[in-house]
Amino acid sequence: MRIAVIGATGYSGTEALRLLAPRTDLEVVWVGSHTQAGKTVKTVLPQLQNTTFSELIFADYTNPTVFPEGTEVVLLALPHGEALQIVPQLVEQDLRVIDFSGDFRLDKTAYEKWYGRPWDTLYSGQAVYGLPELNKKWIKDATLIANPGCYATTAALALLPLVEAGWIDCSRIMIDAKSGVSGAGKAPTTGTHFVEVQESLRAYKVGTHQHTPEIEQTLHEARRRWQGEEQNARDSERPTVLMTTQLLPIRRGIYVTAYALLHEDIEQEELYTLYTKRYEQEPFVQVLPIGQVPEIRYVVGTNLCQIGLHVDHRTRTVLVMATLDNLIKGAAGQAIQNLNIMGDLGEATGLPIDPWF
Ligand SMILES: NC(=O)c1ccc[n+]([C@@H]2O[C@H](COP(=O)([O-])OP(=O)(O)OC[C@H]3O[C@@H](n4cnc5c(N)ncnc54)[C@H](OP(=O)(O)O)[C@@H]3O)[C@@H](O)[C@H]2O)c1
Repeated sequence: MRIAVIGATGYSGTEALRLLAPRTDLEVVWVGSHTQAGKTVKTVLPQLQNTTFSELIFADYTNPTVFPEGTEVVLLALPHGEALQIVPQLVEQDLRVIDFSGDFRLDKTAYEKWYGRPWDTLYSGQAVYGLPELNKKWIKDATLIANPGCYATTAALALLPLVEAGWIDCSRIMIDAKSGVSGAGKAPTTGTHFVEVQESLRAYKVGTHQHTPEIEQTLHEARRRWQGEEQNARDSERPTVLMTTQLLPIRRGIYVTAYALLHEDIEQEELYTLYTKRYEQEPFVQVLPIGQVPEIRYVVGTNLCQIGLHVDHRTRTVLVMATLDNLIKGAAGQAIQNLNIMGDLGEATGLPIDPWF
């Protein structure tokens, strides 16, 4: 398959190129950059010197673009708002698009409320939400994939089994979420440059993080789909999430701890069985044995999400800890997982599971 990458100079776009580099079944034929247009890949990204596409010249995607013949899929790694402008012209050229941004993930009301932008009446509702652990069969034939957010992926994988099983009170799910600084993208800001983050920890976007409605929407969809209309009639409220996001003084990695009240007390083993059964066919979700907790260092560099479980009998609360690499399972790796599914290339092909640690 021939692939184009737009926003290839950004953190997640470059990570996509790095993961695509060794592939022989996928060929990077076009790379887009506004600020680096005219330069070669190997000049701008010296870590990609020994790739088959190192001599490709960045093209300015803000001009109307003609892609090389046979280009099938575009990986679009631009900030939200920018993606919304570009997707229509790509889809109109019969290209399939995997969009990394938040522009196509939400319904109209949530998008306009949490992103403060009007949505695109033609395309916004047309994307398949690209969480393979939930939507695999729809991803295969999708034209437009909304690749999930990094916090949203972590939280969804942490909570899907409990929500689908109907074991928790969905009206008040608490999420404590932490991210490495690459989650904020390449351009440094006052809140993200080295001196501001090193040796410290700080909450941000308290109560307002835009991944909150994305998590709620995913959990709602999961429950609707797995438990049917009867359950919805009995317990019709959408899951409600309260999330605090915090910036960790590390480069990569997300750590989510989700707390939810159990309807009935359960044993640790029951919880473990629920999760291992739910994820037994999923190549990138690893459920740790009871008593173990996940660690960021064991997922950095991989497309894995590792999950640890605990039942607190005293408060009848379940705690789920989940961690992943925000640039891989939280962005570029998940996009390539989706690409693999779309192209029938084997879902796990080319995606790392060995941590850098
Ligand atoms: N970082 C993560 O962990 C992560 C995880 C999941 C999803 N995402 C999503 O993936 C997309 C890309 O994120 P990223 O972290 O890779 O971003 P990034 O490092 O900031 O890169 C984005 C690229 O987009 C281009 N761009 C075009 N208009 C821009 C603008 N107004 N401001 C900044 N850059 C602009 C830039 O490339 P040129 O100037 O060369 O064209 C830039 O290199 C975003 O929608 C983000 O929400 C990121």
